Amino acid sequence: MPSPLNIGLIGAGRIGRVHAANLQRRIPDARVILVADPVEEAARAAADDFGIKFAVAEYQTVLQSPAVDAVVICSATHTHAAITMEAAAAGKHIFCEKPLDFDLAVIDQVLAAVKQAGVKLQMGFNRRFDANFARVRQAVTSGEIGTPRLMHIISRDPAPPPPAYIAVSGGMFLDMTIHDFDMARFLLGEEVTEVYAAAGVLVDPAIGAQGDVDSALITLKFASGAMGVIDNCRQAVYGYDQRVEILGSAGSASTGNIYPNAATISTAQAVRRDLPLNFFMERYTESYVTEMQAFVDAVRNDTPVPATGEDARAATALALAARVSFDTGKPVNMTR
Ligand SMILES: NC(=O)c1ccc[n+]([C@@H]2O[C@H](COP(=O)([O-])OP(=O)(O)OC[C@H]3O[C@@H](n4cnc5c(N)ncnc54)[C@H](O)[C@@H]3O)[C@@H](O)[C@H]2O)c1
Repeated sequence: MPSPLNIGLIGAGRIGRVHAANLQRRIPDARVILVADPVEEAARAAADDFGIKFAVAEYQTVLQSPAVDAVVICSATHTHAAITMEAAAAGKHIFCEKPLDFDLAVIDQVLAAVKQAGVKLQMGFNRRFDANFARVRQAVTSGEIGTPRLMHIISRDPAPPPPAYIAVSGGMFLDMTIHDFDMARFLLGEEVTEVYAAAGVLVDPAIGAQGDVDSALITLKFASGAMGVIDNCRQAVYGYDQRVEILGSAGSASTGNIYPNAATISTAQAVRRDLPLNFFMERYTESYVTEMQAFVDAVRNDTPVPATGEDARAATALALAARVSFDTGKPVNMTR
């Protein structure tokens, strides 16, 4: 494919604008030629800001355009499954933001449609492409830390989202922990066999009033016998807290938070540093570029995508199991 990959962007909200900017400015072998959003001002603003030729209201216009090779789906979560199936039927390669859907039966339908169409589907599990987490994964695959035994994932947001967001989010496990379930499978490179979730409402009663939780400790057991803990909270007052550690038979690999600068301020009162980068847009900036370049490469070179629809299914199954565990107070066996 000598000319740039022609992309149609579907959804021009927060993450849609991140991908638009990266595709137009950082990825030379792709270009966005069309953007669709039912909020036409959003589509128009993205077109103006990122030099996209056409802005439309209907995503079907993107799917019907013969010039579009691939779509990047950044619309609201409840639209992902239907748009992915229609894009597959239209023969477009697909990058879809997480989650694919909340329902495993629906995900299975989507995966069957993608397989039948023979198009590529990459999911937006951007953390796999973060240089720090990728290095921890490499310490496992290279054998540097021996056989993994214990894993800790700390994943805390700076502040809870508004109630309207919680209402359509699918709940914390499907909205937030889904990234951590994917990380857990990615970092250890094996499947989870058991999930146990202790969770509660410790941040905002409005979240509890909607039947959701805002804090959780989730224990995972893996096929090899290794064990992991995911530590989630919707509020960490010092900023976005994203750390991992794996203990293996020959050592450990860990990564901490990222800071806007490396300065240490020492005074007679204290030794201080500035707070970590505040949220995902700042913390994971480079991972969004790397994941999109990986998608463009996979389509152009006809190679496998690095984060698949099957990965999305597995993470969703773990999120649903965590909710069952929380509701029943019992561990859920994932091998049955
Ligand atoms: N991977 C990540 O780090 C990450 C980060 C943020 C959001 N997300 C995911 O991306 C998706 C979008 O999140 P957001 O924060 O950008 O939301 P947002 O509300 O800022 O933007 C969503 C946009 O989609 C548009 N939209 C809704 N229905 C549409 C349709 N049928 N066709 C085209 N556009 C449509 C809305 O008008 C809106 O402009 C969510 O599924 C979310 O889970 C992933």
